[in-house]
Amino acid sequence: MNADEQKKAAAIRALDFVKPGMKLGLGTGSTAEHFVRALGEKVKQGLDIVGVPTSERTAKLAESLGIPLSNLDDTPHLDVTVDGADELDGDLRLIKGGGGALLREKIVATASDRMIVIADASKVVNTLGAFPLPVEVVPFGAAVTARKIAEVAGALGCTGKMSRRADEYGEPFFTDNGNFIYDCDFGTIPDADALAPALNRIPGVVDNGLFTGIATLAIVGTPSGTDIIEKH
Ligand code: 5RP
Repeated sequence: MNADEQKKAAAIRALDFVKPGMKLGLGTGSTAEHFVRALGEKVKQGLDIVGVPTSERTAKLAESLGIPLSNLDDTPHLDVTVDGADELDGDLRLIKGGGGALLREKIVATASDRMIVIADASKVVNTLGAFPLPVEVVPFGAAVTARKIAEVAGALGCTGKMSRRADEYGEPFFTDNGNFIYDCDFGTIPDADALAPALNRIPGVVDNGLFTGIATLAIVGTPSGTDIIEKH
């Protein structure tokens, strides 16, 4: 199977963890979209679930498929969130935010009893950091915040180019929450457990794409099927 087929296989296997009556967090990105489409088919066949989307993009897709939707104000406790990742290691630490939805993704995942990651095999790494770490920053004073990010990350052994994300027209990319994203190309992140809270202590940083201690299970598509990585 190629990468997209692996994503789809992982997404379809995630349906095994969905039970009638569940409240589900719906992730963002191409792998999560496979899951939302497969879920939409099940809903058409009568599956009774409610979804809470992690982005406007996922909300639109889920709505178009007839999936009943809610939000965290009305549905503050979710059973399972199913979402993709840009990288994951063997302890289920993740880098997320390639699609720009990291903040809502983290809020929704941590409002859930369980976060299940779905990914193709290329996303599995020994050490996080080859994928540039997205950090969501409020626009006010963003250049100052970016300098502080570089300082804090440098003290934890993470150095590299940081660039403010742009959209396809070269204009600043804004998240669904109206913030900027800095993509931090550290190459390797020796201590993700320390870096994640250190970045979030910087005034102006809203959140970063390191998800540590959140996911408990990953379904990884492989050339020949799917593997499970479980955290005990
Ligand atoms: C979006 C994300 C996505 O889950 C991540 O970028 C993976 O995307 P894809 O499934 O398209 O490879 O974190 O913010």
